[in-house]
Amino acid sequence: MITAVLVGAGNRGKDAYGAWALKNKHRLKFVAVAEPLAARREAFAEAHGLPPERCYSSWEELFAAGRLADVCFVATQDRQHTAPALAALELGYHVLLEKPMAVTEEDCHMLVEASEKAGRQLRVAHVLRYTRFFQTIKKAVEEGLIGKIVNINHSENVSYWHFAHSYVRGNWRRADESSPIVLAKTCHDLDIIYWLIGTPAIKVSSFGGLYFYRPENAPPGAPKRCLDGCPHLESCQWAAPRIYLKAEPLLQIGTRSRYFYNRFLAGAALRTPWLLNMLGRLYPPLETLVNWDQWPVSTITDRPGSREAKLQALQEGPYGRCVFFCDNDVNDHQVVNMEFTGGVTATLTLHGFASSEGRWIRIEGTGGTLFGKLTTEHQEIIVYDHHQVQKKLLLDLDLDLRAHGGGDDGLMESLMASLEGGSSAPGEVEVLTSARASLESHLLAFAADISQRENRVVSMDEMRRSC
Ligand SMILES: NC(=O)c1ccc[n+]([C@@H]2O[C@H](COP(=O)([O-])OP(=O)(O)OC[C@H]3O[C@@H](n4cnc5c(N)ncnc54)[C@H](O)[C@@H]3O)[C@@H](O)[C@H]2O)c1
Repeated sequence: MITAVLVGAGNRGKDAYGAWALKNKHRLKFVAVAEPLAARREAFAEAHGLPPERCYSSWEELFAAGRLADVCFVATQDRQHTAPALAALELGYHVLLEKPMAVTEEDCHMLVEASEKAGRQLRVAHVLRYTRFFQTIKKAVEEGLIGKIVNINHSENVSYWHFAHSYVRGNWRRADESSPIVLAKTCHDLDIIYWLIGTPAIKVSSFGGLYFYRPENAPPGAPKRCLDGCPHLESCQWAAPRIYLKAEPLLQIGTRSRYFYNRFLAGAALRTPWLLNMLGRLYPPLETLVNWDQWPVSTITDRPGSREAKLQALQEGPYGRCVFFCDNDVNDHQVVNMEFTGGVTATLTLHGFASSEGRWIRIEGTGGTLFGKLTTEHQEIIVYDHHQVQKKLLLDLDLDLRAHGGGDDGLMESLMASLEGGSSAPGEVEVLTSARASLESHLLAFAADISQRENRVVSMDEMRRSC
């Protein structure tokens, strides 16, 4: 049995890592938690059976108690990663650190060096590398199915409602409070591009900005909050009740499933919620569809199952604000161009306007082309071989509601396998997303941010020298 402590019992700490431990009680046990918000701390303690003396209101207090477990999960916000991760490594914990590992180049380097000096794993939660989707692409590339990679064209299409939730109304809306979106969101994608190409980048240029989610684009007469009598409440796609009370965009994903069962249930929840309420009395999980209490609703209130609590959150909290009247400043679209050692090129497009959320990737190789599409409702990978000019379907999956297309589970399986094996120091086991492996994607993100703000091409030598 592996033991763990948690720093930050918010969305990731509780719903990703805590939930995995509860589903895998024979493999992972949380023995302590550090969380300043009493309601979150107590809920985590109750779910995991923690005694009061093992519940702390900050990571400093937790670490003052010495090393209590094998591994420490650091799931605080972007700007609060470096200090607790360094302290945990110093105490001898293995660390699972949320991405981005840090918000400055200096801190990223410090973390890499500290983990290597401590001889402990510092694993970054770059969950995409652990998905079946990207594992399949990596294998296809390594097996030479498309020859040598010449160019990668990758898009991160964030849906309009997810973008509004996280980057307009929510926690990652301001670079000074979290980090620029090219780091906060696309460090995952930069990491995948670098992982597939396998050599360091040389040059980066980037363009982008905040195009749409600004006051001048508000429709006439819109108040500052959706529930303050907005005349557009019924027609606005970002209307807070539509997203958080009815969960319409999420249910619409179900209506795009290829299976009748999923389409029927999602359609019924949208059009005849009374029917699901009735069926929910016979089979309670169905009630969730008409009273959604999972992400993103679980982040707006600590009582997501209560309609009153949700309503209050929209009346008083940040998620009830009109998307055109928030204090957001992060880009809502950005492109990044990269050249890698050996001349391989890649482009990354990020935007917050997709009707259907997901990542698309197209890889041109000397011997073939690979197309990949990773959305919640469908995953598909096709390879066209130049010789045979025939299509080979490598992956074809319907609706996968698991977090990050199964990446969260994959990360946990990999972490546990390395710790259960007993020899878990870096170098002794393959740590797919070690701090060192993750450094390159972070440097790429910092370079893209500088390029976009300063309107110039950035040499990666400059990034490496700055540390
Ligand atoms: N790997 C992924 O794909 C992925 C997905 C979403 C978020 N994230 C990252 O995970 C991190 C956490 O995101 P979240 O949505 O869970 O945030 P959150 O705000 O829900 O949770 C952070 C928690 O840390 C707590 N905290 C603050 N100060 C603390 C302290 N001194 N000691 C202990 N706890 C403290 C907060 O009270 C809060 O409950 C962020 O960096 C985010 O970018 C990663």
